[in-house]
Amino acid sequence: MSDSLRLGIAGLGTVGAGVVKIVRRKQALLAARSGRAIEISAVSARNRDKDRGVPLGDYAWEDDPVALAGRDDVDVFVELIGGSDGPAKAATETALKAGKDVVTANKAMLAHHGQALAELAEKNGAALRFEAAVAGGIPVIKALTEALAGNEITRVLGVMNGTCNYILTRMESAGLSYDEVFAEADQLGYLEADPNLDVGGIDAGHKLSLLASIAFGTQVAFDAVELEGIGRIGIDDINAAADMGYKIKLLGVTRMTGRGLEQRMTPCLVPAASPLGQLDGGTNMVIIEGDDVGQIVLRGAGAGEGPTASAVMGDVMDLARGLRVTTFGVPASRLTSVTTAQASAPAPYYLRMNLLDKPGALAKIAAVLGESGVSINRMRQYGHQDKTAPVLIVTHRTTFQAMEMAVAAMGETGVMEAAPVVLRIEDL
Ligand code: HSE
Repeated sequence: MSDSLRLGIAGLGTVGAGVVKIVRRKQALLAARSGRAIEISAVSARNRDKDRGVPLGDYAWEDDPVALAGRDDVDVFVELIGGSDGPAKAATETALKAGKDVVTANKAMLAHHGQALAELAEKNGAALRFEAAVAGGIPVIKALTEALAGNEITRVLGVMNGTCNYILTRMESAGLSYDEVFAEADQLGYLEADPNLDVGGIDAGHKLSLLASIAFGTQVAFDAVELEGIGRIGIDDINAAADMGYKIKLLGVTRMTGRGLEQRMTPCLVPAASPLGQLDGGTNMVIIEGDDVGQIVLRGAGAGEGPTASAVMGDVMDLARGLRVTTFGVPASRLTSVTTAQASAPAPYYLRMNLLDKPGALAKIAAVLGESGVSINRMRQYGHQDKTAPVLIVTHRTTFQAMEMAVAAMGETGVMEAAPVVLRIEDL
């Protein structure tokens, strides 16, 4: 058996402790599969005294993750600190500059500094792997970078934030408001320390930008992601969408178009009967479409100790076996800079509005849509007691610009109680 692979683990939160547990519990399995022992040399965290449910006495302790990353007895630096900058980035750079391989779960760091870190890794002959950064236990980075490397990728889409999916599906199943379920998610510990990372779509946007880079050979461009969280989604829309055969998801979609790279992380409708529509609770789903392979659906836990530590260990095992791939599947210098698509591909849209209930109101809305070139596919007006009538419209495929024009013109009709809720319906 060849020399052991020695890990330095920085960050001993849920995921870090999970990785330590796997290395301890599965020594024989890991060694048998990789042909060498996987060992932990040293660990680092903010608080040495905290009980993490796993013995750490066998490992050297470093208060400073940068010192850990530079240790001679560390072959692979495992970065589980989190945060786009600060100690996580400093320690990652130290490891890469020393030619050490890095395994990280840090989507924010890669979304903001992926290009520079990939270049640094390659300059120093090091590998930078990040399976755990996207969709927890789902091996989507490996699928895109390796298994599907012979495909032209046409679209990647999915639900990449379990907390948002929990909130949206729980609102529907329990008939609760956004605020009520948000409070519940908070109590259950589902929310990031900064909840806006979850409900603002930022965490999921980070993940999407990493997938887009691998899928299309482009430099990571998180700043170019069209981002909207789930804060404006009310129970009325969840119920109305369900009535029309849809579910509302915080959906990430990326595709390369003739007009440039499209990256969206926004609330969208998907057919209720589709795999995405049936995704409940905190689970993630990523769908990859390639020219030869067709459509692949990957589903699994997007967070939590076991699933995320499993993804970290997958990267560690690749390195132990000597399997090395470029960070984003293309040499860093060849990743192209991103031209952002100015408009997203045409799609059907969902419109919910309350119309003043007087003769000709609906006709005015239908006329405005027609004049904007938007064709109605389905329409429903609900029985009501008060002075406004709830109306739902599902359009045929149209451009967002046409929808914007129609919505602006609706405001001039004098029959709208308020601006309509407009949501894109993603074709699946
Ligand atoms: N907070 C994330 C989620 C997990 O809810 O999916 C880490 O990215």
